[in-house]
Amino acid sequence: MEENEFVEKVKEKIMGQNLTYQIMTFGCQLNENDSEKIAGMLEMVGYTKASEEQIPDILVFNTCCVRENAEERLFGKIGEVKKWKQEKNVVIAIGGCMMQEPQMVDKIKKSYPYVDIIFGTHTTQNLPENIYKTILKNEKVRDILDIDGEIYEDLPIKRKSDAVANVTIMYGCNNFCTYCIVPYVRGRERSRKPEKILEEITDLANKGYKEVTLLGQNVNSYMRTERENGLTTSAIDSFAKLLYEICKIQGIERVKFISPHPKDFTDDVIQAIADLEKVSSMIHLPLQSGNSKVLKEMNRKYTKEQYLALVDKMVQKIPNLSLSTDIIVGFPGETEEEFEDTLDVVRKVNFEQIFMFIYSPREGTVAAKREDQIPETIKHQRFDQLKKLYESKVEANNEKYIGTIHTLFIEGKSKNDDAMFTSRTDTNKVVVFEPKEGFQIGDMVEVEIRENHKWYFKGEIKNKGE
Ligand code: SAH
Ligand code: SF4
Ligand code: F3S
Repeated sequence: MEENEFVEKVKEKIMGQNLTYQIMTFGCQLNENDSEKIAGMLEMVGYTKASEEQIPDILVFNTCCVRENAEERLFGKIGEVKKWKQEKNVVIAIGGCMMQEPQMVDKIKKSYPYVDIIFGTHTTQNLPENIYKTILKNEKVRDILDIDGEIYEDLPIKRKSDAVANVTIMYGCNNFCTYCIVPYVRGRERSRKPEKILEEITDLANKGYKEVTLLGQNVNSYMRTERENGLTTSAIDSFAKLLYEICKIQGIERVKFISPHPKDFTDDVIQAIADLEKVSSMIHLPLQSGNSKVLKEMNRKYTKEQYLALVDKMVQKIPNLSLSTDIIVGFPGETEEEFEDTLDVVRKVNFEQIFMFIYSPREGTVAAKREDQIPETIKHQRFDQLKKLYESKVEANNEKYIGTIHTLFIEGKSKNDDAMFTSRTDTNKVVVFEPKEGFQIGDMVEVEIRENHKWYFKGEIKNKGE
């Protein structure tokens, strides 16, 4: 990237002007990770991060289109920053998943003509060139490709945290769950080479990072397409094998991953998690629906019974397993009885965390074309019903944490209170605690959990952790 001619030209143009950038990220951790690369490129050409109060010189939106509310939030924000454009001629760039939808690009062009750069998920790496065209050539840039996608290695990266890092191991998705837009906007499944992943994580360990989260839309199908097409070049040709290799890297203490797919949760993956102490025993296992007919219509490729059997097997094999999940309510055609099956699974499985979503029709997907869409009022009723059940389970479950001691590392300052440190338990519960002399961000500590605040705990530092 450094030798890129556009990097040099932009660098020269903005040198000495103290120009700043801001990135607004919507969507999942994959987008967060892309934004870290966008930040890396912006810093490479010479921008520095704007402070909270500052109007930046370049603003990049990294968008999500997985549900309608993500899109609405974006439009609200683009409207808000129009005044920045007028006041300061801020360069406005919009990229990410939503820009892979032609109707959205049209809408931006029509309703927000002051946007300078539009780029998609396959052209993020062109940002220096696109900035060059905007600020040196005064062009409006539309840089979107409708392709299966390639992998660009070695982009610069400016990470958000100094202790925990996201590492994308694969891009795209081949599953085409019928409600989901992701395969259309992220292209086909492709895995990064294991050597590249191991190189990145070794480098992180050398820089003092303790925890990595491996990212992909379907991490446990790592290298599957390559295996099927005879394209693997390494003995590390499955997700389980990759986990064993990553855990050999000294300095990395904890390894997490999202999201695995239940259909690909093969025995070798379960065995790897059981064998490897560094792999977190908190597993995200997206359920989506508890009803076999709905699951079939969603193209999830497992039944209620298979999901429950998988959970049973995992509980038996993985010590201290805890589970989180994603659930969609109000999929087209979902009846009360079918929804009841979802509640039934939630009663049966002890989920530590449930991410609940109201079904949102996505243009171009199979489910969006169905005539039997569920009315909004019913979707909301079901959502509330599920939420109530979930909350009652969380309350009961939280009580068992009080008085327990957890070895955690201090991830940073609490989002809501600058004077407090924040961390998460192995089970992904947020714990906030007062700083103590001799302890800093990145340190391992023993924290006793004292107070239950439903969505977080308050704790107290006891000792240094090992
Ligand atoms: N690849 C991941 C999830 C990607 S999207 C996986 O398969 O688990 C994150 C979550 O958003 C999904 O798990 C699903 O629960 C939810 N989701 C996706 N499309 C949706 C839609 N159209 N309406 C509502 N929720 C949706
Ligand atoms: Fe969407 Fe399904 Fe792919 Fe997840 S696995 S990204 S829900 S299509
Ligand atoms: Fe959203 Fe794209 Fe992630 S649609 S959920 S940001 S892959």
